[in-house]
Amino acid sequence: MLYILILFVLLSPCSCVDPFNISFSSFNSDSCGNGSNLICMGSAAANNESLSITTSHEQNEVGRVLYRYPVLAWPAYICTTFTIRVLTDPGSSGSGDGMSFILAQDTKPSPAKSFGSFLGIFDQSTEGVLHQLAIEFDTYKNEYDPDGNHIAVDTTSIDKPVAVKSLNSTGIDLKSGKEITVRIEYDGWSKNLQIYVAYAGDLLVSFLNHTMKLKGMVPSSVYLGFTGATGPLTESHQVLAWNISSIELPKKSLGKENPKMVVIVIISIAMGLLFLAILALPFVLRAQRRKRERLARKQDIEVHIAAGNGPKRFSYRQLSKATRNFTKENLLGTGGFGSVYKGVISDPSSTIAVKKVSATSTQGEKEYLAEICTIGRLRHKNLVQLQGWCHDRGQLLLVYEYMPNGSLDRFIGKGRTFLDWTTRNQILQGLASALVYLHEECGNPVVHRDVKPNNVMLDSDHNAHLGDFGLARLIQNEGTATTMIAGTPGYLAPEVSFTGRATPESDVYSFGMVVLEVICGKRSKGIMDDNSLVDDVWCLYEKGELLDCVDKRLEGKYDEDQMKRTIVVGLACLNPEYTLRPRMRKVVQIFMNPDEPLMNLPGSRPSAVFLSFNRSSSTVTTSTTTDFGHNNVQAKGGVIANPI
Ligand SMILES: *[C@@H]1O[C@H](CO)[C@@H](O)[C@H](O)[C@H]1NC(C)=O
Ligand SMILES: *[C@@H]1O[C@H](CO)[C@@H](O)[C@H](O)[C@H]1NC(C)=O
Ligand SMILES: *[C@@H]1O[C@H](CO)[C@@H](O)[C@H](O)[C@H]1NC(C)=O
Ligand SMILES: *[C@@H]1O[C@H](CO)[C@@H](O)[C@H](O)[C@H]1NC(C)=O
Ligand SMILES: *[C@@H]1O[C@H](CO)[C@@H](O)[C@H](O)[C@H]1NC(C)=O
Ligand SMILES: *[C@@H]1O[C@H](CO)[C@@H](O)[C@H](O)[C@H]1NC(C)=O
Ligand SMILES: [Mg+2]
Repeated sequence: MLYILILFVLLSPCSCVDPFNISFSSFNSDSCGNGSNLICMGSAAANNESLSITTSHEQNEVGRVLYRYPVLAWPAYICTTFTIRVLTDPGSSGSGDGMSFILAQDTKPSPAKSFGSFLGIFDQSTEGVLHQLAIEFDTYKNEYDPDGNHIAVDTTSIDKPVAVKSLNSTGIDLKSGKEITVRIEYDGWSKNLQIYVAYAGDLLVSFLNHTMKLKGMVPSSVYLGFTGATGPLTESHQVLAWNISSIELPKKSLGKENPKMVVIVIISIAMGLLFLAILALPFVLRAQRRKRERLARKQDIEVHIAAGNGPKRFSYRQLSKATRNFTKENLLGTGGFGSVYKGVISDPSSTIAVKKVSATSTQGEKEYLAEICTIGRLRHKNLVQLQGWCHDRGQLLLVYEYMPNGSLDRFIGKGRTFLDWTTRNQILQGLASALVYLHEECGNPVVHRDVKPNNVMLDSDHNAHLGDFGLARLIQNEGTATTMIAGTPGYLAPEVSFTGRATPESDVYSFGMVVLEVICGKRSKGIMDDNSLVDDVWCLYEKGELLDCVDKRLEGKYDEDQMKRTIVVGLACLNPEYTLRPRMRKVVQIFMNPDEPLMNLPGSRPSAVFLSFNRSSSTVTTSTTTDFGHNNVQAKGGVIANPI
């Protein structure tokens, strides 16, 4: 935008103000005559091909030549180029005093006593009175001069020039008698005065830069010209050619002196802004969309949560009191991440399950907090809700809602509590929706890593609540667990043993195992024992006798079609090739809608190419029972999760 603005400003003066431009390529005897545009005063005269400011041979001569018409000095860009020549007296021992280029306030002649070292610029009575600027070419060294061959910029005083520099460095000698070309530029924007100098025909060399404000120093309109003077010693000062140009610059301030300019500047600014706006439009739109999306997501979560219902911080004393100092009587179970105790808190009075997470000493509270916040944000009717936490005495305690019916594994197998098909189906549906939520609906996908009946809690209505989600990550931050993979053999997808990486697909595999266990009423023994449960079901599928695998205790009291569909889903989830497993969303659709087409199953059990499972492999760890339920305290550490 700045670029465009500058372009506009630079272009606009040319289009609205004619530049002043005059050129004297040479002079003749008419140059100072009536009707010419030069005013020659004092000793100044035009003869032959040049303009003589002083004619030589005369002491205390003062001459001044001015261009007859005023020239704009500010705000403007002024450039003048001229060629001068200083001729000394051949017979004389010395010469002086010098000449100047002048921006004069009026067309009056040089002050009467401005001869000698004053160079015709001013005299003692007009020093500081006349508003003018002179660039002097001094040929005589006075006490205040650096030498007798220098250029200086004078404003109000001859002995205190605002800038002075000897010409020695350039190799130019003013008194050499050679023609010398000088260019003087003044840029009204940068307030920079630049002087270039060279012997005529040579390349001009930048000689002096000086920053100064012309405004206030000289009138806006000035008379340009030359002065020269001699003292006791004499010399001739001549001008041979002279070009002047002045371009008006627009005022920087938006004053009312130049309404045309104001309009132009305003238009350029407006156009610049417009241009910028067009450039920025996609970004602004995207940012707005993101904001809307963020807001929508936030609202979604907030609707999900009853406001202010996030995980609370409990004190250790509170939890210790609630669990009666973590007595054995209150122990609900011991799992991979630690022991779970039942507790009762007052205000509001409720029953809680407190998980004492083991090995938590090294991690800082801040890291826990981040993870706990993530877990705490996850809310779904089929998840065990994290209600609070406590990090104290090197211990991490997590507070969950209490599940009166314990974990699902209590209901699987002979001699265990019986669940009818409707309840079992409802549990599988709940578990599937919890996984859809974790995998797809809660923002960043959360992989559970340890889906198994022990982690499926049942509330008083036997609704499924998946527990222990997010803990694998929390504990893995710990460092002690980095070499281990969370997960339980038998439920662990085969590829995880090799890649060590749990994925949503590996959760799907574990889910498939839970489906078969719930339907058949048997615990899987894991892949080590030839994974008999999966093999058996596949066998029956191949024979077309699928329903033979169903738990006999159900006594056939189920919808056969629904049962078949559920078994097929379980087998599909157990595909050893993870890319061929269905997504949890598809599973839920099949469960919810009897018309939803089933996925295709191969005619026979897909061969598991990499099923060579090494029992002593250090990459597999066991995560044992995690019982939130009462009177089912099991502490097991074996490879086989649970006997049938
Ligand atoms: C101004 O001077 C330039 C050369 O310095 C010349 O080309 C141009 O024609 C002049 N313009 C006017 C209006 O005299
Ligand atoms: C110039 O004009 C003045 C009067 O305006 C006259 O006295 C003088 O002689 C003229 N000079 C020349 C050189 O024409
Ligand atoms: C003018 O120039 C010629 C030769 O170029 C010279 O002879 C004459 O003296 C010069 N006149 C003046 C007044 O300098
Ligand atoms: C003045 O300008 C003309 C062309 O505009 C150029 O030929 C001449 O050399 C210039 N004179 C000086 C002293 O720069
Ligand atoms: C420039 O050169 C002259 C002659 O050599 C010398 O007298 C003078 O001091 C020099 N100027 C400076 C500033 O050195
Ligand atoms: C003066 O300034 C110009 C640019 O602004 C630079 O190129 C030049 O070298 C300077 N000259 C001196 C003598 O400092
Ligand atoms: Mg001097």
